[in-house]
Amino acid sequence: MKTKSIVFDAYGTLFDVNSAAEKCKDKIGDKWEGFANFWRTTQLEYTWLRSLMKRHKDFWQVTEDSLDKSMKVFRIDIDMKNDLLNLYKVLSPYPEVKKVLENLKKKNFKLAILSNGTPALLEELVNSNNLENLFDDLFSIESVKIYKPDSKVYDLPLQKYKIKPEEVTFLSANTWDVSGAGNYGYNSIWVNRNNAVFDNLDFKPKNEINNLTQLLELI
Ligand code: LAC
Repeated sequence: MKTKSIVFDAYGTLFDVNSAAEKCKDKIGDKWEGFANFWRTTQLEYTWLRSLMKRHKDFWQVTEDSLDKSMKVFRIDIDMKNDLLNLYKVLSPYPEVKKVLENLKKKNFKLAILSNGTPALLEELVNSNNLENLFDDLFSIESVKIYKPDSKVYDLPLQKYKIKPEEVTFLSANTWDVSGAGNYGYNSIWVNRNNAVFDNLDFKPKNEINNLTQLLELI
């Protein structure tokens, strides 16, 4: 492989987006998982719709807007809103994340996050989980003010590292993000944590892994 940089999606790939609602499951009850999935889907729909409408709002505002709708749909007590939002700032990483990053760091790849998250959100996620020394860069779509999968987003690591798309190995658990990055020209790998089905969006990943530890066998 000619990989010079390994670039990770953040939400759902390094950090568990359901962990905020899961930490409140005693209060929310059995519907916590359906609620968490609805919140995530609505959040992503808002990113795509806002990009198409050319009415950008940052990811934190989109997260709050989608939470408001999801709480109404699932009839969740409004008093929980601040707890849920605060937990979203400190989402837990998946268990293998730190060890895998430490291993890759020793191999001298440029390691980066490329995410819809704002710079402040990404910094807090990384710092609250003691991962701050492992990344060379945290690339946020806020520098281009349009959401994934716009090609301007995938340009960001190439501009910084002066490398070609095929020199980036990109990892995402979000099928549509794998497709976006793959169509752009990255070596795009799908982290299929939940035995899901891939998209029909003109790209099929050469590699599919169940967790990030398996990346170490590919790189
Ligand atoms: C991100 C979303 C797509 O981190 O998970 O960009």
